[in-house]
Amino acid sequence: MDKQFDSIQPIKWQVNRLCLLDQRQLPLQQVWLDYEHSDDVAAAITDMVVRGAPAIGITAAYGVVLAARHAWDTAGVNWKQAMTAPLAHLSESRPTAVNLHWAIERMRQIYMTLPDNEPAEAVLLKQAHDIHSEDIAANHAMGKLGADLLAEDNVVLTHCNAGALATGGFGTALGVIRQGYADGKISHVYADETRPWLQGSRLTVWELQQDNIPVTLQAEGAAAALMASGQLDWVIVGADRITANGDVANKVGTYMLAILAKYHNVKMMVVAPTSTIDWTLHSGDEIPIEQRAAEEVTMLQGQQIAPEGTAAVNPAFDVTPATLIDAIVTEKGIVLSPSYDTMKFIK
Ligand code: MRU
Repeated sequence: MDKQFDSIQPIKWQVNRLCLLDQRQLPLQQVWLDYEHSDDVAAAITDMVVRGAPAIGITAAYGVVLAARHAWDTAGVNWKQAMTAPLAHLSESRPTAVNLHWAIERMRQIYMTLPDNEPAEAVLLKQAHDIHSEDIAANHAMGKLGADLLAEDNVVLTHCNAGALATGGFGTALGVIRQGYADGKISHVYADETRPWLQGSRLTVWELQQDNIPVTLQAEGAAAALMASGQLDWVIVGADRITANGDVANKVGTYMLAILAKYHNVKMMVVAPTSTIDWTLHSGDEIPIEQRAAEEVTMLQGQQIAPEGTAAVNPAFDVTPATLIDAIVTEKGIVLSPSYDTMKFIK
């Protein structure tokens, strides 16, 4: 894959600090924010400085490194006990993306094996770097597997941002799209604008433009008419949590797209690393769905856009039943027609 397609990385560790590209300010400004304290990292996740399930997990892993530094500086040999509160804070920063808990647990398992009388920062930093680089490698593997499912000159629709910005780099759904475009299998991409945070217009369009991949923006309400026109071959999206039966939580609106796709004979592909699979949950009913502030719907960039006192609901995610999904693409392989039985092949 040409380096041109792999240039955006939203998370960096530089000079003993975590640096995050502030995604709230894209595409108008590229601003990097520095973090030296895990509580500030938790706030950055809640406030959407960084977002997207794998990116949240990687960020939390670096947050654990910062927590260990602070715990050693303040509690010395009792540093492991001093990790409890900051790790709980990181875990609570966003409820739906399971990658967050997966990454924190992986870091915890490592530090529990370390001696009490030595600082753990260096060992944990290596582990966080491993989580980061494994995510990028998984995205490239999924890109190839997902692109293999496409025919020639396909037209695809994506929702939210499941790109380099939502991961360590390259992206999940946008990884397949990058690879598919490079292989001549994708001729055009439609991007839903994705209310209320506009991850589609602000982030996905920006990312694809960086790579010169042809993209057309639409309001998500335009998806049905696009499918009815017969132009669309695939809907390709990411995931925040996948359950043991293949149900998928992803950005609110994904379920609507899956129903529309089934009705119009458009195929539905979900692309996610195995760190997004929660094997402890049997079905999507059990996934905690984040409810965000009503103001995110009633206001736009600080401007009130609904009448004063408007009641609004703002679920950040919805659940698409496995029966509406044609393929779940992971770095361990593809699950066609996901179900309890077919999901077992990637466990
Ligand atoms: O609220 P967000 O922006 O964190 O939601 C992100 C999504 O829903 C993505 O589709 C999902 O995390 C997959 S990212 C590779």
